[in-house]
Amino acid sequence: MDERVSRIAGVGSHLPARILSNEEMSALVDTSDEWIRERTGIRQRHIAAEGETTADLAEAAARKALDHAGIDASDIDLIVLATTTPDFTFPSTATVIQARLGITQGAAFDVQAVCTGFVYAMSIADNFIARGQARNAIVIGAETMSRIVDWTDRTTCVLFGDGAGAIVLSGEEREGPNDPGVLASYLRSDGRFKDLLHVDGGPSSTQSVGHLRMVGNQVFRHAVTNIAESMTTIAGRAGVAIEDVDWFVPHQANQRILEGVARKLSIPTEKVISTVADHGNTSAASVPLALDRAIQDGRIKRGDLLLMEALGGGFTWGAALARY
Ligand code: UT7
Repeated sequence: MDERVSRIAGVGSHLPARILSNEEMSALVDTSDEWIRERTGIRQRHIAAEGETTADLAEAAARKALDHAGIDASDIDLIVLATTTPDFTFPSTATVIQARLGITQGAAFDVQAVCTGFVYAMSIADNFIARGQARNAIVIGAETMSRIVDWTDRTTCVLFGDGAGAIVLSGEEREGPNDPGVLASYLRSDGRFKDLLHVDGGPSSTQSVGHLRMVGNQVFRHAVTNIAESMTTIAGRAGVAIEDVDWFVPHQANQRILEGVARKLSIPTEKVISTVADHGNTSAASVPLALDRAIQDGRIKRGDLLLMEALGGGFTWGAALARY
């Protein structure tokens, strides 16, 4: 039987112009550049301007991914947008992007899996393409986390930033085992851990947006364990060894999590793409932002084997393996 594979045809990202340094952060809450860098590796984060929304960032990233892929928006028949900070309660931010790109065919919808959102969205789009339900998809992770953090809570506000990243996935017939494309994805969730990382508001419960709340040190422990488990599971399912992976493109929550996972799985840190110092935690945007940076600077090349992973509120977590 013919098998369809989703090839990463193009990648793009966009960050708001405004940069907020750790120094500036220490004027807002009782913190210091030293504490933030030692505990997280973060040096700065980008913050959306007044009136600049998740859709604005997502649109810019999507346009760059389309350019990079050399695909016209009129050939896109699926948009899956991962965000926890949509422009509106409804309609979905994905449909806003669809209209802005002038796309009138196919389907567009948002996915809510918080920081794991991009991995979920990519897996969904890959399944649509594999089933022949879509030909070319834009998968976007876009966030304005600055709008939901509590700017008086030093334990969370120093961690997050705004941004967007996008990929274009194109369906192609698989010809050989080393073809470029998404090889496997692995999605998990366990709702018992809701209280460790959540937003304390929403349309139905409080009729308000609410603020992000996190018991950071407990999330940290789960993150290292669950991320490492998802990476070994996906590698096992795809029949590849962790050593065969060329680049690890993780969710960027904390440099110590990246290093803890790398240590656990004996991964050389040079193979781990890290952007946390410059972007902070951009939730669903962090994986495609890191992917785009490493493609732009020439580290990731066509044919390389990539392992992407994330953990976020819910908990949700998971991984995706792709040959670029
Ligand atoms: O993206 C979704 C997944 N999210 C994550 O994976 C985040 C996981 N968690 C983390 O990255 C880390 O747990 C944090 C960076 C959030 C915190 O680091 P930690 O080493 O786990 O610190 P802690 O929460 O145990 O707090 C240590 C101390 C506390 O003071 P006491 O109780 O020891 O006196 C905190 O009050 O650090 C204090 N603290 C701060 N001090 C200065 C917490 N936040 C700050 C701050 N500045 N911003």
